[in-house]
Amino acid sequence: MRILDSTTATGTSSRPTVAVVDLDAIRHNVRTLRPPGAEVMAVVKANGYGHGDVAVAGAALDAGASWLGVALVEEGIRLRHAGLDAPILVLTEFPPGSETEALAAGLTPSLYSEMGLRGVAEAARRLGAEPGVHVKVDTGMHRVGLAPESIEAFLAALSQSGLKLEGLWTHFATSEELDDPFAHRQLQRFTAVVEGVRTAGFEPRYLHAANSAAIMARPETHFDLVRLGIAMYGLSPGPQLFGLADLRPAMAWKSAVSMVKRVGAGERLSYGRRYRLERESTVATVPVGYADGYSRRLSGGGEVLINGVRLPVAGTVTMDQILVDCGGEAVQVGDEVALMGRQGSEEITADELASKMGTINYEVVCGVSERVPRRYTNAGTG
Ligand SMILES: Cc1ncc(COP(=O)(O)O)c(C=O)c1O
Repeated sequence: MRILDSTTATGTSSRPTVAVVDLDAIRHNVRTLRPPGAEVMAVVKANGYGHGDVAVAGAALDAGASWLGVALVEEGIRLRHAGLDAPILVLTEFPPGSETEALAAGLTPSLYSEMGLRGVAEAARRLGAEPGVHVKVDTGMHRVGLAPESIEAFLAALSQSGLKLEGLWTHFATSEELDDPFAHRQLQRFTAVVEGVRTAGFEPRYLHAANSAAIMARPETHFDLVRLGIAMYGLSPGPQLFGLADLRPAMAWKSAVSMVKRVGAGERLSYGRRYRLERESTVATVPVGYADGYSRRLSGGGEVLINGVRLPVAGTVTMDQILVDCGGEAVQVGDEVALMGRQGSEEITADELASKMGTINYEVVCGVSERVPRRYTNAGTG
């Protein structure tokens, strides 16, 4: 039996449902957002926010990024296996038991706990390695990080264990809310920690704090390195940042009509029969569903584009298929369907889908599931 791998960019697929990722858009966004005087870490966790981590990382490095950032050791190792040799920061501590493999792969650890420090120090000793580490300070988000008052004792323990402080960093909780003073308070706390660290005789090569929103709107947070995520994918970190930079969305999500039928006035469509046709209509079936990340929450108000016309998703989104009420439009099997992206003068954005789903654009693109093949355009170096 021949098994077709329909889930990866390299596998074959007969599915018309694909996420098309424009790597020139990634390059453009990196070049547009790279601040003068700071290096760029391309954040490619969660499979490059759903775009494909290896391809995005390659494009970002082409365009001048010098670091990669991931959430998981496995994500970093995947990038190494793909042949990427740029420095890779794991943004949380290595889980206990993974330290040796992570260091052997040349991943840079984040550290903020005694247990984390011990694990990395022991693995480094075993390997005879001297990894630079990045210590994360919690300046107010309270997710992970070291309390500012613990930093000096922690750095003393770090030195004793033979590890080198390469970076000191923090993360903002509200950088996309431009009128909220909390990001400024976090920055002040971070700056105070940096002063204390220097006074104690440490001079980390990298200070970093800025995510996309801070890169775009808070130049005072750029330091030596910025961690560029959502805006690299061409999406705005929040409503207040729309239009602040010339961003190009990298992902379009497409499918094609798999069946059309005329259905009479008064008929009801899909599970639960929640959508009633007011008049006889052409109803198109499209092979995408919530198992692909096309959320069931789009059952009420989702829309797609076919032949440049905006048309409503008719009734409940099912696991593998949706129905579209095409009214009197001459829609045919094989016609391209834009689930997200442009057709003619119309566009469905990740933000439109997000607002209909009650979430943010980050979750829309991360949510395009593994069984949707990724296709790359402009894959050559740009
Ligand atoms: C620690 C850290 N830095 C940077 C980023 C990138 O953030 P953004 O996608 O808003 O640029 C993230 C993403 O969540 C993160 O967790």
